[in-house]
Amino acid sequence: MKKWKIALLGLGTVGSGVVTILQTHGERIRKQSGAELEVVGALVRNPAKPRKVQIGRDVLTTDIQTIWEREPDIVIDVMGGLDPTLGYIEEAISRKCHVVSANKEMLAAYGPHLHRLADEQNVSLLYEASVGGGIPILNALSQLLHANRITHVYGILNGTTNYILTKMEEENLAYEEVLARAQELGFAEADPTADVEGYDAFNKIRIIGHLCFGGKTQPLASEREGIISVTSEEIELYGKLGYRVKLLAVAERQGNSYSLRVGPTLVPHSHQLAGVKDEYNAVFVTGDIVGDLLFTGKGAGALPTGSAVVEDVLQVVSGRTFALEQEEVGTQTVVHEEAEASGAIAAFFTLPRRETDSAKIRLLSFLSSEAGFLHAVDTLETGDASYIAAILSGADVQVLQAFAKHVNAVLHLRAVLDDRLAHAFREADVTLPI
Ligand SMILES: NC(=O)c1ccc[n+]([C@@H]2O[C@H](COP(=O)([O-])OP(=O)(O)OC[C@H]3O[C@@H](n4cnc5c(N)ncnc54)[C@H](OP(=O)(O)O)[C@@H]3O)[C@@H](O)[C@H]2O)c1
Repeated sequence: MKKWKIALLGLGTVGSGVVTILQTHGERIRKQSGAELEVVGALVRNPAKPRKVQIGRDVLTTDIQTIWEREPDIVIDVMGGLDPTLGYIEEAISRKCHVVSANKEMLAAYGPHLHRLADEQNVSLLYEASVGGGIPILNALSQLLHANRITHVYGILNGTTNYILTKMEEENLAYEEVLARAQELGFAEADPTADVEGYDAFNKIRIIGHLCFGGKTQPLASEREGIISVTSEEIELYGKLGYRVKLLAVAERQGNSYSLRVGPTLVPHSHQLAGVKDEYNAVFVTGDIVGDLLFTGKGAGALPTGSAVVEDVLQVVSGRTFALEQEEVGTQTVVHEEAEASGAIAAFFTLPRRETDSAKIRLLSFLSSEAGFLHAVDTLETGDASYIAAILSGADVQVLQAFAKHVNAVLHLRAVLDDRLAHAFREADVTLPI
């Protein structure tokens, strides 16, 4: 039986999950893979810190040279960050170590570069745990790329924000209240910026973009917005119109290139992604041959993420690696018709209470006659303000913004994921709530 020497860089949440799985499932792994996995080193910052797993003190080290001296076959990066991690991973590859990583920040920024190095050295590079925790999405995408061309990927890729949006809707609570509760429950970090501003989801969709559209093609456009501006009134009104607000990450083939976007997006209640609640993640993929596929599961945590790392290690043992799409993205014949773009946008106006009813009426009549094609509209009144939510096609964003300013309304624009709207973009049949 071949012995594989493993070095862990990091022994925190995910690293401890990996060691736990190797301990509890070691016998099964041996039988299934014919490989004996031995942890020969674990790089940490503070060796005196209590650990969640039992591991020999001699395995721990604070010195990367000690890791190299133990001549690992596989290096697992579960320490995160860019510096010094990137240098360690480059060194590991140059020493012909296979690499498994959970580090979304590093893979988003340097994935294609690391793939080039790994190809030169003929070693495997896998990073399933970096996107969607335990969901085997990158392996699935990698498997799909031999014949299929991916046309688009829609993902709920951040559990913290999905939890916050779910609770804001179900319990009609403000963003700040739910964030504080999520922090108490450990679903949100003390500094939640990476999650709530959309950086974490953006890193993950960038990784998906590299895999599906190739490392050489640069995205045509990219946008990132988090959930801080989403209010419970907005969630309530769009709910009445048949939509749920989700922080959606989108990678889409667009002519000769592709685009990446993360932002609060309206998903119709009838779409499978609308049913993905709490801290769950999901990825909805469309391939030109296979059509639509949905993957869902827990996107974080020691065991789900550790599971993705260990399965990647077993892929290494079987001689597999991730490969980026080889073909440059271009206009290709697709077997499945791509859904017609709806060109729809959702506009949410907040009018302060002191504004007269006439401002509201002017806004509603503008929406129904001049702003574009109006699919749906509704209003809400509270003690402090009037709110108007509208779904429009063919609207000019600058004109919407100018009109909002003209009537002293605050405007938030959201993307809409709704294929049905393209077909409905013909005749108006909306009754104004006046
Ligand atoms: N947590 C999750 O659910 C999850 C899910 C998906 C992906 N990830 C990714 O997995 C990676 C690890 O996350 P985590 O939650 O396990 O982090 P963590 O609990 O903070 O653990 C980080 C580990 O790395 C060690 N470390 C950090 N910087 C170091 C340095 N400069 N030199 C030596 N050791 C260093 C720390 O040592 P000490 O223990 O001595 O401090 C610790 O053991 C990150 O890239 C993260 O984005 C995490």
